[in-house]
Amino acid sequence: TLPRHVRLVEVGPRDGLQNEKRPLGLADKVRLVDDLSAAGLEYIEAGSFVSPKWVPQMADSAEVFAGIRRKPGVVYAALTPNLKGFEAALEAGVEEVAVFAAASESFSQKNIDCSIAESLARFVPVLDAARAHGVRVRGYVSCVLGCPYEGEVAPRQVADVARELFAMGCHEISLGDTIGTGTAGKARALFEVVARYIPRERLAGHFHDTYGQALANVYASLLEGIAVFDAAVAGLGGCPYARGASGNLASEDLLYLLNGLGIHTGIDLDRLIAAGERICAVLGRDNGSRVARARRGA
Ligand code: HMG
Ligand code: MG
Repeated sequence: TLPRHVRLVEVGPRDGLQNEKRPLGLADKVRLVDDLSAAGLEYIEAGSFVSPKWVPQMADSAEVFAGIRRKPGVVYAALTPNLKGFEAALEAGVEEVAVFAAASESFSQKNIDCSIAESLARFVPVLDAARAHGVRVRGYVSCVLGCPYEGEVAPRQVADVARELFAMGCHEISLGDTIGTGTAGKARALFEVVARYIPRERLAGHFHDTYGQALANVYASLLEGIAVFDAAVAGLGGCPYARGASGNLASEDLLYLLNGLGIHTGIDLDRLIAAGERICAVLGRDNGSRVARARRGA
């Protein structure tokens, strides 16, 4: 049976914008986040406290957090790769943070400049500081269904990293198909393996749509009892350290699927589409949501 409720984690302002070549102004970033909360999204990853040398697009995250209109009941989160990032996030008033590890060694090196083991050791003080400040921490695992440098990744490798993140106190573990090569059978099998160690309600799916498989992967994951999915409005996004990783699953397309299944989310599709259309116009980019494009013709 399918879950009755699904939570959408909107990652467009972070995963989406971190990969845009054209720099986006602060006011447009703030407007995007406010449009998304107005559409009914209750969890928005609004920025990233990483090195500006690595990801210049996220250098103004503190200003974004200062500029948004915080809607009660909405969680505004940010990525924090280390204690320095966590402290900056705390200062900016971030309510929830996320640490990010990888299931493949090569990707870990390229993305965060350290081994998987080193990254996990680096997260421990972040989790400790977060606990002391009452801040919840989400954990990401990248390359769960394939690595741009190593190819196939075994579910066992993913489960090992996910378990460590969960054991150190991450309340939710998001499994990222960073390059979008995963297919439905593999996605379902992966969650089946990881759920042997971590309760299903603590797991999330993060599917990039590079190969057009993201919605199918979501459906397969729903059948496996997963009820939290990450998506980006207008299908913005990708990862600067994974070639070909353009495009998260579009939030509009995910919402359309969930609406069709009668699964409640509380999000207004029309307002979400409008938010996506607006940011695409500002960026001068095609809308990656099929639903948004279809509605345009209607
Ligand atoms: P490093 O070079 O090993 O770090 O990078 P370091 O500690 O040696 O510091 C080097 C410089 O960075 C120093 O500055 C630090 O102060 C500064 P300098 O002395 O040279 O002027 N620095 C920082 N500045 C601001 N905020 C910080 C910070 N930390 C150090 N937090 C580091 C290591 C992790 C910092 C770097 O590799 C980095 O920032 N990587 C971020 C990469 C990234 O953001 N990737 C995209 C997000 S992950 C993703 O998209 C995948 C996901 O969507 C899931 C999926 O799809 O799979 C989540
Ligand atoms: Mg991603």
